[in-house]
Amino acid sequence: MNRSIPKDNGMTVVLIACALTFVLMLLASWFTYQVISADVARQAAIALDPNARPPAELWTAMGCSACHDLSEVQSAGNKGQPGPYMGGLDAVAADRVAGENALAYIKTSIVDPNAYVLDGYVANIMPQNFSEKMSASEIEMLAAWILDQNREQ
Ligand code: HEC
Repeated sequence: MNRSIPKDNGMTVVLIACALTFVLMLLASWFTYQVISADVARQAAIALDPNARPPAELWTAMGCSACHDLSEVQSAGNKGQPGPYMGGLDAVAADRVAGENALAYIKTSIVDPNAYVLDGYVANIMPQNFSEKMSASEIEMLAAWILDQNREQ
């Protein structure tokens, strides 16, 4: 059988290029939105609680560092103990719970750890009272800091 290429495929190429450009623009604006919304949230949090302790200080003062490792990258076969590794968490946090973006997921994980218990772990290991020990602003900034892979430690 002779499968000759149709002569008018120029139009098809243009259409595919347009569709690809559109998808790329959607992706670019989505990423921009994620970055800007995290930064706006951080600025707002600082304004609301000028006395907020810095995230790096909370990380050790609250005992997070005893259970979580920020630099070890979490993978399916190597999640970390007693709590999950947190390196590269920005890449997976948005996909944990439908309808929760990465920042929302991390904040919920801090104030209500049993709301979503990661596969391979049991509930009630992580302290349940962090919302009483940190202000809302501190939790907001701590969550953003955990997601920030260029964080100052
Ligand atoms: C006593 C150990 C322990 C301490 C202390 C602890 N965690 Fe956890 N954390 C866990 C365990 C176990 C899990 C997994 C089970 C679950 O989801 O509750 C977890 C899950 C998480 C998750 C979700 C991780 C993922 O991959 O989805 C986040 C985010 C988190 N912890 C942040 C914190 C922060 C921030 C602190 C300090 C304010 C903290 N944790 C203190 C044990 C701990």
